[in-house]
Amino acid sequence: MKTLKHLFDRNLEWANTIKEEDPAFFAELSKQQAPEYLWIGCSDSRVPANQIVNLPPGEVFVHRNIANVVVHTDLNCLSVIQFAVDVLKVKHIIVCGHYGCGGIRAAMEDQEHGLIDNWLRHIKDVIRFNAGRFEGRDHEEKLDLLCELNVREQVTNVCNTTIVQNAWKRGRELSVHGWIYDIQNGILKDLDACVTCSDETPVQ
Ligand code: CO
Repeated sequence: MKTLKHLFDRNLEWANTIKEEDPAFFAELSKQQAPEYLWIGCSDSRVPANQIVNLPPGEVFVHRNIANVVVHTDLNCLSVIQFAVDVLKVKHIIVCGHYGCGGIRAAMEDQEHGLIDNWLRHIKDVIRFNAGRFEGRDHEEKLDLLCELNVREQVTNVCNTTIVQNAWKRGRELSVHGWIYDIQNGILKDLDACVTCSDETPVQ
């Protein structure tokens, strides 16, 4: 039987390193989680939420899918947002895209990839919503722009969920942020897309 022993070895090493620094770390954390942040990011292995913002376990509630898409009827993503907002009472929802995203690249092309093409259709919608903004740019520039526009679109989708709208109606302090990560240098950039109340939600 294959057991991926090397991963269990790495796990022990990791847990021991943390316990050396803070012997009570896991015992304390096991009692409850109280993260301030919900991270909605891409599944890409090069974009791990906690590591990018250098935060330990317990600090970030995470949802990841291909190309960090927030679909209006995605029960999985909506459940994560609802639990994070209503139960964990996070103060910030971060939609984080990244340059060099394979999902974004695939959505720009016409090649068939199977089932995933239906998911990428949401990104093709972002191209359609922003028609005209891609003219006069080379292919790589178009890809980078689409990575950014996709984040902005998904920020809007988060804001338009009944969960976030109702939280704001109740006067909850809740901000939705749009960030992008550069896999070439490890640096995060704020796209200045932050929304803090329903009045600021872009009308689409
Ligand atoms: Co990606």
